[in-house]
Amino acid sequence: MRGVLFDGRRTEVVDDLEVRDPGPGEVRVAISAAGLCHSDLSVVDGTIPFPVPVVLGHEGAGVVEAVGAGIAHVRPGDHVALSTLASCGACAECDRGRPTMCRQAIGRPGQPFTRGGRPVFQFASNSAFAERTVVKAVQAVRIPKDIPLSSAALIGCGVLTGVGAVLNRAKVDRGDSVLVIGTGGIGLNVLQGARIAGALRIVAVDANPAKEAVARQFGATHFLTSVDGVRDVLPTGADHAFECVGRIELIRAAIDSLDRHGQAVLLGVPSATAEASFLVSSLFLDKSILGCRYGSSRPQRDIPLYAELYREGRLLLDELVTETYPVEDFEKAVADAEAGRVARGVLTF
Ligand SMILES: NC(=O)c1ccc[n+]([C@@H]2O[C@H](COP(=O)([O-])OP(=O)(O)OC[C@H]3O[C@@H](n4cnc5c(N)ncnc54)[C@H](O)[C@@H]3O)[C@@H](O)[C@H]2O)c1
Ligand SMILES: [Zn+2]
Ligand SMILES: [Zn+2]
Repeated sequence: MRGVLFDGRRTEVVDDLEVRDPGPGEVRVAISAAGLCHSDLSVVDGTIPFPVPVVLGHEGAGVVEAVGAGIAHVRPGDHVALSTLASCGACAECDRGRPTMCRQAIGRPGQPFTRGGRPVFQFASNSAFAERTVVKAVQAVRIPKDIPLSSAALIGCGVLTGVGAVLNRAKVDRGDSVLVIGTGGIGLNVLQGARIAGALRIVAVDANPAKEAVARQFGATHFLTSVDGVRDVLPTGADHAFECVGRIELIRAAIDSLDRHGQAVLLGVPSATAEASFLVSSLFLDKSILGCRYGSSRPQRDIPLYAELYREGRLLLDELVTETYPVEDFEKAVADAEAGRVARGVLTF
């Protein structure tokens, strides 16, 4: 089968991958569509270290093809969106509703694929850039069949991360002011999360002026091309500032932009050794800095919620998909993403 393979030096669309059958507690999914998130590119450029060879992709949706022993929540033929959380469901973190903190959920890459008889790693317990993948039952979340799979594909990372950061981590309230730095796939979802939460002023900053129209469509009430102008719009600062690029000077800018009791939420992922600095005294008035993994989400609860908000027209998905590409055009999808030509590019199989 076809898939996008990174061997440590280059990425290649190959057609000779194989995936094993689902074991007990696992599900095999035929991927229909998968979004290209910046984190995939971060594996290729080394920002996110990952063992190779690896099948990329971690934001996808498709159709259940086979289920292993003990699976009752989905059946072959069901449409599912995939999460990246291979959480165990049985530890204290899972039990208290924090699957993103489950120690089983990260750092244990499996190898369900082979190529030429040699094992191939799975990225983010997911590898959605393949015709088929095998995931843990908890990662396959059933969605209504009337949602286009190319739109549903984006729920699994961009929407869970961005909207989840607003609703689950920051807990933005009605009337709050929100600053969103970076309006790529993640930032746009923070913008629409802020709109859904009822934020009053929603200021988007992106260095690329071409992002203004889509940022406003997703909820921005103001758009700036630099953080320098934030105080003109929010003279006392922001209640919540989300960094969605992954640059340390923007992390600093997010912290410097906070109002009293404000909080900076860090979503962007700089290199593993990057250090950021801030004026300690600037945090004095009850301000805080929050990390956030994967929107602090609970996928079996959040994905059906977002699917329903989409059907009611309150959450935009179709508008995120600027372009779809057959998987063979992976390089074109990367070029368009890097040039800022797409909100999200989606690969189809
Ligand atoms: N915390 C998490 O769980 C999580 C999940 C997914 C992605 N991420 C990370 O989030 C970040 C964003 O991902 P994405 O897919 O939205 O990326 P993206 O490439 O789609 O978007 C990045 C945006 O930032 C803008 N930008 C770049 N430099 C800028 C600057 N100096 N000032 C203002 N804007 C600037 C770009 O124009 C672009 O619109 C990445 O670091 C990614 O690894 C984190
Ligand atoms: Zn992602
Ligand atoms: Zn667990």
